[in-house]
Amino acid sequence: ADGTVEIPVVFNVLYRTSTENISDARLAEQIAVLNKDFGATNSDVNKIPTEFSSIKAGDTKVRFHLIKTVRKATTKTSWSTNDAMKKSSTGGIDATSPASYFNIWVVGSMGGVLGYATFPESAGTAVDGVVIAAPYFGKTGATSPFNLGRTGTHEVGHYLNLRHIWGDATCGNDFVADTPTQTGSNGGSPTYPLYNTCGGVQRSVMFMNYMDYVYDSAMYMFSAGQRDRMQAVVAAGGARAGLRNL
Ligand code: ARG
Ligand code: ZN
Ligand code: CA
Repeated sequence: ADGTVEIPVVFNVLYRTSTENISDARLAEQIAVLNKDFGATNSDVNKIPTEFSSIKAGDTKVRFHLIKTVRKATTKTSWSTNDAMKKSSTGGIDATSPASYFNIWVVGSMGGVLGYATFPESAGTAVDGVVIAAPYFGKTGATSPFNLGRTGTHEVGHYLNLRHIWGDATCGNDFVADTPTQTGSNGGSPTYPLYNTCGGVQRSVMFMNYMDYVYDSAMYMFSAGQRDRMQAVVAAGGARAGLRNL
């Protein structure tokens, strides 16, 4: 009634060890993190600088609910970003109706890669969805400093059409007007305020945005422009409108 879109999620868990066979409780924990972060009810929302309070997203009105979990044992120790985990023919798990369901794969390891995602251009294809490496999935048992479930928040941002906040280039463009242009990615846990100069203009950058590369504890907001971009994708007529047709 208030325009909130509830996205149905299917988890596909590929495990070699019992540690990699993420518990139902931890899967639920990741869903809970997404719903808090996308609803701006995350416990660290009050850390958003006053400077950005007029352009913070607030409730994005996107929520997630778990429909089904598929589990499969594997002998593979490490995966890569070549989509092998998304096809049974290559030892993975086939997506469940990707036009209607948001498929998320959890794999034991992808080397140093925390996760990756498809953009809405891939909507409904067999490889559409998000992949997260088990050590960075959920919170309980996850590996610090990426143990607050925010690899999920970041990858879901991509799935809903968000680019990295630095635009993947020096002073690049993320196609969001209200996120300040920044020179490049930030890592670790930067101290606010952090100033960058692009095109001769100095700006205080939004390193605490979920689409930067900082630690989980250092990211806690989407901007209003990012919210609008994500809402457009799931709205009627949007590339991912199929997620609402259940
Ligand atoms: N490097 C990954 C990506 O580009 C994920 C980064 C997640 N960051 C985090 N603090 N959990 O999609
Ligand atoms: Zn990313
Ligand atoms: Ca921007």
